[in-house]
Amino acid sequence: MLFDPRPKESRSELFNRERELGLLELYVKGGSPLILCLGVRRVGKTSLLKVFLNENNYPYVYINARKLSEYQYNVAGLYKLFSESITHTRFSDRLAEYLRSLRGVKIEVLGTGIEVGFDWRRREPSITSILEKFNDYANDQNTYFLVVIDEAQELRFLRGYNRVDFRQVIAYSYDNLRHVKFVLSGSEIGLLYEFLEFGNYASPLHGRVRDELVLSRFSREESIKFLELGFNEAGIRPPKAIIEEIVEVLDGIPGWLAFYGYNVVQAGRFDILDKVLEEAVQVAFSELEKIVRSGKLYGHILRAVAMGYRNWSAIKRAVEAWTGTYVYSKVLYYSLNRLVALSVLVKEDERYDFTDPIYREASKKLTL
Ligand SMILES: Nc1ncnc2c1ncn2[C@@H]1O[C@H](COP(=O)(O)OP(=O)(O)O)[C@@H](O)[C@H]1O
Ligand SMILES: [Mg+2]
Repeated sequence: MLFDPRPKESRSELFNRERELGLLELYVKGGSPLILCLGVRRVGKTSLLKVFLNENNYPYVYINARKLSEYQYNVAGLYKLFSESITHTRFSDRLAEYLRSLRGVKIEVLGTGIEVGFDWRRREPSITSILEKFNDYANDQNTYFLVVIDEAQELRFLRGYNRVDFRQVIAYSYDNLRHVKFVLSGSEIGLLYEFLEFGNYASPLHGRVRDELVLSRFSREESIKFLELGFNEAGIRPPKAIIEEIVEVLDGIPGWLAFYGYNVVQAGRFDILDKVLEEAVQVAFSELEKIVRSGKLYGHILRAVAMGYRNWSAIKRAVEAWTGTYVYSKVLYYSLNRLVALSVLVKEDERYDFTDPIYREASKKLTL
């Protein structure tokens, strides 16, 4: 179903990403060992990756690095996510044969299949030794093993008594494991680059070549088509004027379009745009609140940009008026850069704007 609010899993539910699926295939087959999949939140990165993995026969592990927070970003969490992912793939039993020889690997045969566990408390195998087994497996199968990490900017928080710098893991694999490829996706694009540090001599990944797939939002025409197709599936024929209004407001972000469509189908009526927007703004608001909690200035800046103060000096004046204090240029500069790195704002021709109109609306609601 085109309006399904979850990430899509099959090509038939994925609207208009043939080109991107093709590019990904091309990169995996012939490109660099490191592939980045970039785009703002809700543009469809997870959907693209899931469809790709389901449609192709590459062995893989898929990890959502946001889940590391449930383990306080401890390395144990990384092992846990690895083992869960292996357990759930269709080739887990064959892969288990390769992993079996590693110390600290536990393999259990259950009614439903095989469960692979890593005994991280006592003698966990190193991440690289696990990757070496992936490499052996892919080598024997004459294919590539894909290590897919969604929201990979979260890897920067990994810690623990045996702290893992995941960039070193990637660099080792890049240089030594011919049959392993990393696919990293990220919504907070600046933060992902800051973490990987391709431009820093001191970084393990300095100067490494990578392929980049950037997912853009739908054009106006694509958005209209997407809504029409989705409503058609549900047996509903919406008035053209309504569709056009929605497309105007939601600015081609697939996640919001699907969110609207889903709600209309559930409610069985079209005149719910205001209510849907309110809900969307609420979702965006709670995302922004996390940022604002990490520094009061962020809230002022977001509100300023939302109210139409778009260039440096206008933002500075607005923020100073609200805080009632002088704001150091260095501090304002840093904060604006963070908001760009988080892909909440974009900077173009010395003017700042929101990446997503729903973020703009949500920012108007930030109380000072
Ligand atoms: N090309 C697409 N076709 C159909 N639905 C899509 C498409 N791209 C995104 N969606 C929908 O939008 C929402 C967000 O997609 P998701 O893949 O989670 O985005 P991201 O990972 O970039 O945040 C989901 O409901 C998903 O089903
Ligand atoms: Mg995602």
